[in-house]
Amino acid sequence: MLNRALSTFPTLTTERLTLRQLLESDVQEIFLLRSDTIINKFLDRKPSETLEDALNFIRNIKNNELLYWAIAQTHNGKLIGTICLFDFSGELNKCEIGYELLTGYQGQGIMSEATRKIIEFAVHTLGLKTIDAFTHCDNQSSTKLLQKFNFEKTEIVDETNPNLIVFRLSN
Ligand SMILES: CC(C)(COP(=O)(O)OP(=O)(O)OC[C@H]1O[C@@H](n2cnc3c(N)ncnc32)[C@H](O)[C@@H]1OP(=O)(O)O)[C@@H](O)C(=O)NCCC(=O)NCCS
Repeated sequence: MLNRALSTFPTLTTERLTLRQLLESDVQEIFLLRSDTIINKFLDRKPSETLEDALNFIRNIKNNELLYWAIAQTHNGKLIGTICLFDFSGELNKCEIGYELLTGYQGQGIMSEATRKIIEFAVHTLGLKTIDAFTHCDNQSSTKLLQKFNFEKTEIVDETNPNLIVFRLSN
């Protein structure tokens, strides 16, 4: 689906960051992210228990269905988080966004820097009209981030998890 819009995986850069395709060699950092109880606190997902779980996660990413970027620091190449666009609608005009950052790198504006770039790419290159984010009602850092980028709280209820608030950015 996405391969109709993109011929190669879009590597993007910001002042401090390189947003690039996730590789199997990122397994250690993906394990750190997906096994961290603080990061997982508000996320509805099965935590990685072993490196193999993390490797399987990377292998199962289908790049023609979603865009899953590794957030790496440009100065040392270290992977410190991820950001992804997924659940694209058939006409490619709507998708969801998700993100996570190792705890040691939070509170420095890093996710804001990555999100700004991904929204710009989603709107200007992919032509998306709507981006949704499902975030837990107690997830203050995520809510702050979404509001900074003008996502608006909707009344949509996720029946599988009523604690999730759906924020929407419309263009
Ligand atoms: C959601 C998450 C990515 C937010 O990370 P974050 O580092 O707080 O987000 P930002 O990059 O926007 O940083 C904002 C903070 O950095 C501070 N900051 C420092 N330097 C900054 C700069 N140059 N620019 C902007 N903000 C800066 C801001 O003041 C703000 O601090 P505050 O939270 O005390 O007000 C992070 O909490 C996380 O990974 N959570 C776990 C995963 C998760 O819940 N994901 C959501 C899925 S829906």
